[in-house]
Order: sequence, then C-alpha cells, then structure tokens
Amino acid sequence: MLRTLPVLLLTVNLAVGSSSPGDVLSPSYNKSNSSGVQRLPDAIIIGVRKGGTRALLEMLNLHPDVKVAKAEVHYFNVEDHYKRGLAWYRSQMPFTKPGQLTLEKTPGYFAAPQVPARVWALNPAARLLLIVRDPAERLVSDYTQVLHNRLARRKPYRPLEELLLCKGHVDPDYKALQRSLYHRHLARWLEVFPREQIHVVDGDALVRDPYPELRQAERFLELPTHIGPQNFYYNSTKGFYCLLEAGREKCLDQSKGRPHAPLDGLAFRKLCHYLAKPNRLFFDMVGRTFSWC
Ligand code: A3P
Repeated sequence: MLRTLPVLLLTVNLAVGSSSPGDVLSPSYNKSNSSGVQRLPDAIIIGVRKGGTRALLEMLNLHPDVKVAKAEVHYFNVEDHYKRGLAWYRSQMPFTKPGQLTLEKTPGYFAAPQVPARVWALNPAARLLLIVRDPAERLVSDYTQVLHNRLARRKPYRPLEELLLCKGHVDPDYKALQRSLYHRHLARWLEVFPREQIHVVDGDALVRDPYPELRQAERFLELPTHIGPQNFYYNSTKGFYCLLEAGREKCLDQSKGRPHAPLDGLAFRKLCHYLAKPNRLFFDMVGRTFSWC
C-alpha cells in the first residue's frame, strides 16, 4: 500500500551526515595554508549508517591532534569519486600540521563490498572505527531517514511493516535489514584487515555516556588523553549529550535523534528474532557481546 504525503510531516533534511555523496565537496586540490597541508586519512569511521557516526566524528574532533573531513566523502564506494583519483580524495581532507591525525567518515563504506580492498591498497596501516548500535533500532532509524527524505521530495512512501515483512516473514531482501547484518559486512573487512586495526565503538553506550567510548577511541588512535567529561553536557531538550569546547556548546542537528517511525510490536519481535543469529555471529567476530534485542 502506498501512502500519500502528510504535508505537516514535511521537514527538509539538511544534515551533512545524511547528504548525498556529491554535495558539499570543495573543488580545491592539495593546497597548503597556515593550518598545514591536506593529507590522506590515517583513520576512517567506516560505519555503520545511523550508528552514531556523526557524533563520533564530532566528538573526536574535540581533540587538538585530530582534524576531520566535515562532509562524507564517499570516495571508495562511489565509482565517480573513485575515478577522480587520490589528488581529489586528498583535496577533500582538512588541513593538518605534522603530528595531527586526519580522520574522515563515510558510513557507506562498511557495507560496500569493493571498499575494504581499496582502503587497504591506499593505506594498509589505516585505523578503522566501526560504531555499531542495536541493529533493530538501527534499521528503524535507517527507515526513518529514508522516510524523511522521501517526504521532503514529496514522494510516496510505504509503511515499515510492508517493507520489512513479506507474507508475515522478515524479508531478507530489504536493504535496511541487510545493512543491519553486521557480521556479513565485517567478514569482508576481516578478509583484508587484521582485527586489531578495527576498533568497535558501542553506539548505544556513546548515547548514554560518551566519555568512556571516547577514551577508548583515543587509546586506539594512540592519541594523548585530552577529551574528558568536561567536554559533554546532557541537553534535556534534545535528549542527548551535546559538546562543549572552549565555552561553546554544540548539539548535533535535528536529523540526529529524531523520533522514529512506528513499527508494530509483533513486527519488531519478528525482526529481533531474525537478528538473533546474525548478532551472535557478530559477537563472535568482535569478541564481545552487546545487549541488543
Ligand atoms: P537516531 O536518529 O535514530 O536517534 P549517524 O550519525 O551515523 O547517522 O547516526 C545517527 C544517530 O546518532 C542518531 O540516531 C542518534 O541516536 C545517535 N547519536 C549518538 N550520539 C548522539 C548525540 N550526542 N546527539 C545526537 N544523536 C546522537
């Protein structure tokens, strides 16, 4: 069943984190200025989509030794970008001084089969950050984002139950479901990169209390301790932690943490049941468990 647009729900999603690959990219190439030069990334947040990738990037950006590419670059997963070559990729990076680490995030990398080998070919020493959250919640968040984008473009949409279930069973072809099968995607990365080069961040824990996750990420990136609890405050209006730096407050934009689209209880339970085995396989791969549904 297709539904027509409820006009009141229309909100245009202007978040950089959910931008399409081609936008907000600067045309400059490998320039240097007083802030340093543009270097290829030392570390990449590879996913997962809707896992908290923007929050992790912005939080790591609080560190003086970290410089981040603000926009998602989509270099390794979008052929048009990949064909532009390394000079173009480097031109998307921030300016850094010696000793500063360059970080980019593109959540689309995690599930794209061609990406691990391409990253390895560029930099076999790259450090990879993977932020995961409860894959059932992630799926609903993924659907909600697509829904908002469709509403903004005045396109019809289908309710989540219709996309998720086929004849009463979870439909394995539903793309948002496939993106939640973390073990499948991680297996491809582990064919290429050693486990020690992939740091798993608990996205649900990052929401509850960002500091401990940031501390572990700093350690993984071999950064001196800098980020502390003083860098975060809980914003009860937003319902999330926001960032504090040099007296300035910064919350993520409204596309992060918006109310999720509804999914009926039975369908949600079917989804959790379906995900139980993939989740266990993922836990075995990463050597830890998460309290997911
Ligand atoms: P929801 O919108 O489903 O709540 P990404 O940046 O990868 O698209 O992830 C978006 C998710 O980041 C949001 O999902 C939200 O839960 C999570 N998040 C984590 N920390 C956050 C923070 N401090 N502020 C806002 N959202 C945060």
